[in-house]
Amino acid sequence: MSDVFVFDHPLIQHKLSIIRDVNTGCKEFRELVNEISMLMAYEVTKDMALEPVDVQTPVAKAKCQHLAGPQLAVVPVLRAGLGMVDGILDLIPNARVGHIGVYRDPETLKPVEYYCKLPSDIGDRHIIVVDPMLATGGSATASINFIKARGGKHIRLMNLIAAPEGIEAVQKAHPDVNIYVAGLDSHLNEDGYIIPGLGDAGDRLFGTK
Ligand code: PRP
Ligand code: URA
Repeated sequence: MSDVFVFDHPLIQHKLSIIRDVNTGCKEFRELVNEISMLMAYEVTKDMALEPVDVQTPVAKAKCQHLAGPQLAVVPVLRAGLGMVDGILDLIPNARVGHIGVYRDPETLKPVEYYCKLPSDIGDRHIIVVDPMLATGGSATASINFIKARGGKHIRLMNLIAAPEGIEAVQKAHPDVNIYVAGLDSHLNEDGYIIPGLGDAGDRLFGTK
């Protein structure tokens, strides 16, 4: 069974409270989603491997450490996952970015897949799948299926807000994928929205409502 990490860092919790607020506008919402994603990525990558390197400073040789392989791939689930990418790339500029297009059918709540483009060496990379919301878990499960079918192995899932139902579904389908969230909420309502959640993440990011 995979592990679930809920980040209680005060900065993450503070910013999360602002994006939950119905009165937070599109611009601030977008900025904060990126900021939270960057802070979360800092934690999610804390076990990345290092290797020794000698660096010549202006005054002496320093024994330092830099990142060793494997490299990282960030895979946003379209479309709301896109809102998390820039914050992560600000922190890890060499990461490659793959894209997976999945939307949730509003009637059935089942994931509908429409796009997948991943780095060709995806099997050699550590992969962080990003999507602000983990509700029923259908979109995340389908996205991880996609990635595994294309050779992806070392996968982590990073969400801003998750419902217990979504966590359970992903853990059942993908017991090898650890899940990292900023907020673990109470439940889903009858329309499949996370309660209390933050509403529709894609609409709030892109101003489509
Ligand atoms: C949202 C969200 C997730 C999905 C979560 O996307 O960004 O991808 O719903 O729900 P689930 O866990 O029940 O699958 P949505 O389907 O609204 O598509 P969008 O990002 O294109 O708006
Ligand atoms: N997708 C969202 O954007 N929000 C939810 O609460 C559930 C699914």
